[in-house]
Amino acid sequence: MSIQAELNSTIQALIQPGKGILAADESHPTIAKRFKAVGVECTESKRLEYRSLVFSTPGLGEFISGVILFEETLGQNSLERVTIPALLENQGIVPGIKVDKGKKPLVNAPGDEITYGLDGLDDRLEIYKNQGARFAKWRAVYTISETLPSRQAVEANAEMLARYAALCQAIGIVPIVEPEVLIDGDHTIERSAEVNEVVISEVFNALRRHRVQLETIILKPSMVTPGKECAKASPEEVAEATLKVFRKVVPAAVPGISFLSGGQTPEEATSNLNAMNCHGPQPWYLSFSYGRALQEPAQIAWAGDLNNKSYTQAAMLKRARLNGAASQGLYTPDMET
Ligand code: 13P
Repeated sequence: MSIQAELNSTIQALIQPGKGILAADESHPTIAKRFKAVGVECTESKRLEYRSLVFSTPGLGEFISGVILFEETLGQNSLERVTIPALLENQGIVPGIKVDKGKKPLVNAPGDEITYGLDGLDDRLEIYKNQGARFAKWRAVYTISETLPSRQAVEANAEMLARYAALCQAIGIVPIVEPEVLIDGDHTIERSAEVNEVVISEVFNALRRHRVQLETIILKPSMVTPGKECAKASPEEVAEATLKVFRKVVPAAVPGISFLSGGQTPEEATSNLNAMNCHGPQPWYLSFSYGRALQEPAQIAWAGDLNNKSYTQAAMLKRARLNGAASQGLYTPDMET
C-alpha cells in the first residue's frame, strides 16, 4: 500500500460515526497517580493486567475506533497471549502510540512549557510502525494566566507539533495534533476562548508552513471552558464558546476533532460533547479522545483485582457507549442509569 493509501485508510478507520478514541497512553508517573487513587501499586504486571482487561472488553470496537498506547504497552503480550496491538486489531480497533517525551520548562519563558521528543523520532516511528502502530499522538501543554502563554511558547510548541506531524505522515502514520490548553486556574470562559484561538491558529500556521496534509490529521484540543477554580459553565455555554472559536481557526479540510477531557468528570465530558453535536452539521466530525473521562469508572471497578473483570469491562463499555452516543448528539442524562 502507498503511504497516501495508508494514511487514507487509517483516517477512515479512526473517524467513524458513533465512535471515538481511548487515550490509554499514560506515562508511568501518570498511571501511578491513577492507580494510587484506587489503592493499587503501580507495577509493570498491574499496568498490563488493567490495560489487557480494558482492551479485551467485549464489544468495545463498536464505540472505540482507536486506542493510544504508551511505548511499554505497545510491546507487551496481553493476558490473552497475543500482542496488545493484535488484541486491538482483533477488536476492530486501530492501535496508536504516544510519541512525545513529555514537557519541561521553556527557557526564558517563566511559567511556560515545551514538549520534547523530536530527536530520533523518525527512527522511533519506524519501530512503532513495525510493532503495529498506525497513528500517533504528540501533546503540547499551555497554562493560562493573565500573561501566559507567552508568544515564545505558542510559536515554539506549534513548530514542534508541525514537525512531528510532518514526520508521521512521511512514513504513513496519522498524527493526532494535541494542543492542550489547561483547565487549571481561575480564568473565565472568555479568556479560555481567547487563548485557544491564539494557540490553535498558530498550530495551523505551522502545519501549513511544514506542508502537513490537513486531510489526514486529527486535532485533539481542549474544550473552551472556564478554569476549574471558577463556576462551571453549562454544556450549552461550553458548546457555543468552543464552536465559535473552532469555526474561526480550524480549516474545513481537517476531518475530525477529538477532544481531550482534561479534568472534566466523565458525565461533564459526555454532556459537553453531546451539546456540541446538537448544534447541527459542522465541517468536521466532533468526537472524543478521552483518558480520564473514559477510564475513571473502570479503574474504580477494577481496584487492582482480576476478579472484578466483568465490572471493569461493564464500566468501560458504558462510558464508551455513552460517549459514542454523544458524538452523534444522541446522549441524554437518563442513559446514565
Ligand atoms: P484526558 O482526557 O484525561 O485529558 O487525557 C487525554 C490525553 O490523551 C491527554 O494527553
